[in-house]
Amino acid sequence: MCGIVGYVGKRQAAPVLLDGLSKLEYRGYDSAGMAVYDGKKIQMQKATGRLKVLDEQTHGGRTMPGTIGIGHTRWATHGAPNDLNAHPHYNQDETIAVVHNGIIENYLKLKKKLTAKGYTFRSDTDTEVVAMLLDYYYKGDPIEAITKVMHRVEGSYALGIIFSAHPDLVYAVRKDSPLIVGKAEDGNLIASDVPAVLKYTREVYFIQNEEIGVLSESQIRFYNIDGEEIEKEAKQIEWDINAAEKGGYEHFMLKEMNEQPKTVSDTLNPRIKDGKIVIEELGMSDEEIRSLRKIHIVACGSAYHTGVTGKYVFEGLARIPVEVDLASEFRYRGPILDEGTLVIIVSQSGETADSLAALREAKKCGALTLGIVNVVGSSIAREADRVMYTWAGPEIAVATTKAYTAQLIALYLLAMKFALVRGRLSDEACASMIKDLKAIPAQIQMLLANKGDIQRFANRYIAAKDVFFIGRGIDYAISLEGSLKLKEISYIHSEAYAAGELKHGTISLIEEGTLVTAVVTQEELYKKTISNIVEVRTRGAFVMAVTNEDNTEIEKTADYVIYIPKTNKYFTNSLAIIPLQLFSYYVSVGKGLDVDKPRNLAKSVTVE
Ligand code: M6R
Repeated sequence: MCGIVGYVGKRQAAPVLLDGLSKLEYRGYDSAGMAVYDGKKIQMQKATGRLKVLDEQTHGGRTMPGTIGIGHTRWATHGAPNDLNAHPHYNQDETIAVVHNGIIENYLKLKKKLTAKGYTFRSDTDTEVVAMLLDYYYKGDPIEAITKVMHRVEGSYALGIIFSAHPDLVYAVRKDSPLIVGKAEDGNLIASDVPAVLKYTREVYFIQNEEIGVLSESQIRFYNIDGEEIEKEAKQIEWDINAAEKGGYEHFMLKEMNEQPKTVSDTLNPRIKDGKIVIEELGMSDEEIRSLRKIHIVACGSAYHTGVTGKYVFEGLARIPVEVDLASEFRYRGPILDEGTLVIIVSQSGETADSLAALREAKKCGALTLGIVNVVGSSIAREADRVMYTWAGPEIAVATTKAYTAQLIALYLLAMKFALVRGRLSDEACASMIKDLKAIPAQIQMLLANKGDIQRFANRYIAAKDVFFIGRGIDYAISLEGSLKLKEISYIHSEAYAAGELKHGTISLIEEGTLVTAVVTQEELYKKTISNIVEVRTRGAFVMAVTNEDNTEIEKTADYVIYIPKTNKYFTNSLAIIPLQLFSYYVSVGKGLDVDKPRNLAKSVTVE
């Protein structure tokens, strides 16, 4: 959560900070603030609400003179979202300012000690403790003070710090929360994520755990936690800058949904060579693949839903037992893992705190770990034994769409590869599946073109109170994601159920007119799910079905039918999810909600 930006250079800092923060608002958006050294002292400006409030307050930053500063956009963890708790935070005499992303777990203990030493706190945040602790340790050498603070605080942090006694330097510190440094022509920057600096530079350093960056207008130096200078190599960012802009679309979510034909192709095509699946980055010999005894797929939110699909695909195709876990559960349940286990961590951001902790737990237990990750160079990508990137590009909307469909492709490819090596899939069957995979981008395009009909249908449900999603097998996994998409951006209560489970309690919630979305793409289960549709319709439900184009029989049972083109039974998720994404999007638009930044959420959940 939270986005950090810092700048030191020739330009006026505040407009640069605001611009950078606008690219990070997806990380949190309940309040924002900036601290700028104006030549005499550190000035601070904070505002509750979206970044635009701060922007208006400072006239686009113009009212804050100075060429060095730090900024922050917040997703509140400790302390309500208000001006007092918004970052930056000062030390006692306002000579040090700090912005922070992460959680200082021992802040209460430290706060008590500092209070006993005479420090007075103005906010309820854990961050303010860092500012005061810096003050306590600062005896003229910032690096010395910072390293002492790093030894004292527990938890996760990415910090941006300025000292009025060192008015030409920005300090950047990280442990378990992302932070990068951008080297630009007329100054240098720090940021939580690459899009914030792309306007100024493509030359980026990734700060690693327990490292410190010190930036002046023309120089960047790095230190370790012992205060020793270290060397780091800059990386060149290849992204298209437009990838992080709306490009004429009303919302990022709409843009990202429309990018799916490309992002699916980008994830798929480099791994198909001469008609064969080639996953070089997997780095597993056939012998290793054959000796695998178990797979764990571990993730959060939508990434977890791709894992649920993955279970059906791996087990169905490769006959390897798969357990799927929510990362927040996995890390504390003492999972039984050993050398014969592959743990796949799925994450768009590669920074999700629970997923990262699960990865570390898996490594500790001796399992081989594979990250399926979208953000290049992110923590999970760096720490997993192997990494398979989903080439979806930057995803800005909080509700994931293109990263989700790219993750599905990565899992299909892995499952097919394992099935081939383990003798469960013939070359001919694999070739036919590859043909189906290659058809998916065009099929997604076709489904996206049907947006008008879905928008009209969605408009009828903007006042809905409850919506249910039902399906069996892979259709259940699709239902989970359809339901999450709807609730997170429309604020309509919705639940996904394995269709057969509904009558064990939940069916009592069905009333006259309740919308039930039935996903019916698994031919061998058609009849079973249709029986469940009949059950809910008998109790007054209105049923929207998403099914295969040849299942026209369903029109006798469902009230409204959306057809998806023909594909392999393991790949239907990639198609059936498109109308469900569109449905959620148009319900949210119809309700006039902030589609890209739904309340209480943030794109990257870097706290437990
Ligand atoms: O970055 P990650 O893929 O690890 O994020 C996991 C979840 O937080 C994420 O999928 C979340 O559920 C999405 N907002 C759903 O649209």
